[in-house]
Amino acid sequence: MIIVLNFGGQYCHLICRRIRDLGVSSEILPFNASKEDILMKQPRGIILSGGPSSVYDEKAPVMKKNMLELGVPILGICYGLQLIAKLSEGEVKQKQREYGKNILRVQKQGILLKGLKKTEQVWASHGDSVLSLPSEFTILASTESCRIAAFENNNRKLFGVQFHPEVTHTPHGKRVLQNFVFEICQSEKDWNMKNLDKLLIDDIKKTVGKHSVLMATSGGVDSTVAAVLFHKAINERVFCIFVDHGLLRRNERSEVENIYSSFGFKNFYTIDASSLFISRLRGVTDPEKKRTIIGTTFIDVFEKKAKEIEKYHPEISFLGQGTIYPDRIESAQPSKEASKIKSHHNLSLPEKMKLKVIEPLKELYKDEVRDLGKTLSIPQEILNRHPFPGPGLAIRIVGEITQERIDIVRNADAIFIEELKKSGFYSKTWQAFAALFPVRTVGVMGDSRTYDYCIVLRAVTSTDAMTADWAKIPQPLLEKISSRIINNVRGVNRVFYDISQKPPATIEYE
Ligand code: XMP
Repeated sequence: MIIVLNFGGQYCHLICRRIRDLGVSSEILPFNASKEDILMKQPRGIILSGGPSSVYDEKAPVMKKNMLELGVPILGICYGLQLIAKLSEGEVKQKQREYGKNILRVQKQGILLKGLKKTEQVWASHGDSVLSLPSEFTILASTESCRIAAFENNNRKLFGVQFHPEVTHTPHGKRVLQNFVFEICQSEKDWNMKNLDKLLIDDIKKTVGKHSVLMATSGGVDSTVAAVLFHKAINERVFCIFVDHGLLRRNERSEVENIYSSFGFKNFYTIDASSLFISRLRGVTDPEKKRTIIGTTFIDVFEKKAKEIEKYHPEISFLGQGTIYPDRIESAQPSKEASKIKSHHNLSLPEKMKLKVIEPLKELYKDEVRDLGKTLSIPQEILNRHPFPGPGLAIRIVGEITQERIDIVRNADAIFIEELKKSGFYSKTWQAFAALFPVRTVGVMGDSRTYDYCIVLRAVTSTDAMTADWAKIPQPLLEKISSRIINNVRGVNRVFYDISQKPPATIEYE
């Protein structure tokens, strides 16, 4: 186990992820974790993360000098390096800033930089630099504007790099982390997806004890993987509520029900609330109003059912959620509220409920969740499914929602997705869907005039949905999809393909 102490750096979690990729367990603790908390985890090594502060800021996150003497090797990254230097009576000063790509000149490999060439590309992001260190430290490398870009002190087992080995822009950063984890800390490989499910299941058992867990499930990858973990840990003591808001994709409800029944879930409840949702949305055209109505209606429906279940199962004390790590960084951004673009309703449930939240996937990235799902034998169709927003088709029908428009967009979407799957493009795109624009235009079909809706096809490539590019789907395929939609979906006489990027556009339309 390698502990990463979080000093507020944006890559803190990535360090943890890279250590796990090396096959070693890793966990983040706050920078002010006590000696006892750290030693209880029996770490082989500790990494001090980067952070936005200067070690001399009044409010800078710091730790006591004796925390460098815990008897395990410590690697400081960026701010972490500066902190080690300061606590060891070195001199840290604001110097020329370094942001982005840089060239590292390795003077001495030591153990930390073993295997690195004389010059290496690294990625840096700092304002302060270490100017001097006591003589017991060996300087290993420098950059043009930073004399001490890496050091080691083998007696005291203190190591530091001013650059970020965890990012892909430092091509041999992995080697530096490997040197620390295996050569210096002598860690053994204990982490892989095969035992991750066991670890998470054990953790759930310990946390939940004799109590039960209530969950809102959507049929998406994250909530399905979380639900299956709960089921494996506590069997019929997980209660899943699946709300059909009438804005799901074609066959989605039966697909979700089938998967849960194939896993043997005893307490799975589908609530058909479509007429309630559709009636509350009648006449509403403002995107944020639509989102709010869907969010509050979802909570109303969920709470009503939860109360019914809780009457017979007072032992329910936990609310299970499929939150993954990127959901948490997004919702933790302080500026997010200030510049709210769209309100996602998924994270607002627990505030209204008096249950303790349990999120077994909260440290994982999407691809790790998919790998975990594979070891849990969840079918590929579920694991590789494109993301689908909580408000469903409502935000893909621009303007007012009517049953006719829902049917049109759902049918067009099914054709689009079927063709993408047949041609192999489904797996090459992050997300693809049809949307309906409430504009009618004139067309001609079989000698008759038509006055019908426009369907817009949106397919994007992305790695995290924060930015996205439009997918370059071949024209013959687009042509086939367009004619299948116009010929088969009544009410549509034109199909458009969206070629805008995010930003400035977004993936969904509302
Ligand atoms: P945008 O449209 O903001 O979408 O570029 C980025 C990603 O988020 C998904 N999305 C949502 N997911 N609840 C969700 O669970 C929501 O309210 C919601 N709105 C957008 C969207 O599908 C895309 O993957």
